[in-house]
Amino acid sequence: MKQNKATALAHPNIAFIKYWGDKDPDLRIPVNGSISVNLDSLYSRTSVEFDPALVGDQLTIGGRVPDDLAVQRVNQFLDHVRQLAGFSTFARVTSENNFPTGSGIASSASGFAALSLAASAAAGLELDQRALSRLARRGSGSACRSVPGGFVEWKAGKDDATSYAISIAADDHWELHDCIAVVSKEHKETGSVAGHSLAGSSLLQGARVADTERRLELCRDAIINRDFQSFAEIVELDSNLMHAVMMTSQPQLYYWQPATLAVMQSVIEWRKGGMPACFTIDAGPNVHVITTGDNLSTLTAYLDQIPGVIEVLVSRPGKEARLIDI
Ligand code: PMV
Repeated sequence: MKQNKATALAHPNIAFIKYWGDKDPDLRIPVNGSISVNLDSLYSRTSVEFDPALVGDQLTIGGRVPDDLAVQRVNQFLDHVRQLAGFSTFARVTSENNFPTGSGIASSASGFAALSLAASAAAGLELDQRALSRLARRGSGSACRSVPGGFVEWKAGKDDATSYAISIAADDHWELHDCIAVVSKEHKETGSVAGHSLAGSSLLQGARVADTERRLELCRDAIINRDFQSFAEIVELDSNLMHAVMMTSQPQLYYWQPATLAVMQSVIEWRKGGMPACFTIDAGPNVHVITTGDNLSTLTAYLDQIPGVIEVLVSRPGKEARLIDI
């Protein structure tokens, strides 16, 4: 072990073309590719120290020991890092999110991206960005997209070596803003790990997956050309397709609440009125509303007035996961 301690920072990401369903749940090889952007103002900061005095891994998130399932997931992940590094020393892991806990923003993507970088650096592994993205994928699928910077595409691939994310445009390529309309701070009942395993039980999943390459191409082109109208149409379609799969899974998964729909309908109306805005929703009730830089203050003021919107968190495109000094 050349070094035994490192700290990394990574941003969560919001998917424009969604990942929903696994080809291989253990390696988290997805059934379809996806596209996202990192969220600059939100981050996880994670420190890892391998210490020969420890008799087991120790984990705290925001100063607390998380539930057993989360601890087990991190243990398994660290076992893989130890296997790559060829040693068996346990680690002390401390992680913090700068976004309010329970705000419904998934922290697994930023958390595992930061953990991948901090743990591999602390273990003395010198991984390039592709290898880091593959490593993060094992912790949480969407975490592989929080490793590269800016606008990112996860190439689904067919196995561990071919499933990783790459940057398709830098963070300053397009001044988009993600305004997260938080409508609930409750912990969701069915998380994404269980959700992915239900995807195949929907009659609609086959059609959604079969059409993915077309949607990926439209979204990629819209980003490269900064074409907001085309971008808005494909992003909303993709989110609706994923939620249609969720709602028609067995058992059914409903993530929306009345305020979720109120925001969606308002965004559609505002766009008809000429404002560049579109929505996308992950496995939860909160709505990510995307807009361009010059419309940001009008949009957040509009969102704030919708009954049921508790707060609006604003972020611009963020950079790659990186090591930091503390
Ligand atoms: O990486 P996971 O297992 O948290 O899955 C993410 C699933 C969605 O957020 C709903 C879609 C996506 O592509 O981020």
